[in-house]
Amino acid sequence: MDTFTVLDSAEDVAAAAAADVAQALREGARSLVLAGGSTPRRCHELLSEMEVEWGRVSILFGDERCVRPDHPDSNYLMARESLLDRVAPATVYRMPAELGPDVGAELYARVVAAVAPLDVVMLGVGEDGHTASLFPGHPGLKATGLAVGIRNSPKPPPERVTLTLNVLQTARRVIIVATGVGKADAVARAKRHEVPSGMIGGARWFIDRAAAGNLPSPRRGEG
Ligand code: 6PG
Repeated sequence: MDTFTVLDSAEDVAAAAAADVAQALREGARSLVLAGGSTPRRCHELLSEMEVEWGRVSILFGDERCVRPDHPDSNYLMARESLLDRVAPATVYRMPAELGPDVGAELYARVVAAVAPLDVVMLGVGEDGHTASLFPGHPGLKATGLAVGIRNSPKPPPERVTLTLNVLQTARRVIIVATGVGKADAVARAKRHEVPSGMIGGARWFIDRAAAGNLPSPRRGEG
């Protein structure tokens, strides 16, 4: 059963999600999968200031765009700026998507196989309800295995590498963040399990009032 924690602001969402991740890491979680996009940035910044023994933590990525790791669109670059350059994780397994969707997925599947089951996975949500680079109706959503290359992504850039839905579904703790009125429809559809972000049982959602739409707030509810 998913849980939905509704907070007043995006800043409160970032703080609550960061605290949840930090608690899991203090309780022994060893692998942390970072989300892409822009929403996690503030969460990463706050997480970097929290008490965590980063020397015990391996960092992985939920998805990556097929761009160089120093490209402005790179999820790795965002993670470096907001978290990785501020703390010292034991290991950072960068997703080598610049090698292309197929090669990147093949190489990263080996990483996931070595690290799985994943302890903590952070995810964002797109306005269409996608998560990582798993898009509604896209063939990548049905991929088996551990990682898959994505072409014709509805969200630019078109080529990506992503963990598969099954990998996300088997993680020990999944934390999903969504803020802003633009995500309200996606959150509602996720609550009805109609979109990829709503297909991960037991996810811990942290959303603000705007993304909660007609959900009463602030409240913690089952979804
Ligand atoms: C990506 C992300 C993607 C993102 C959502 C939300 O690489 O684009 O993994 O799944 O989390 O699209 O993006 P925002 O946080 O920027 O709204």
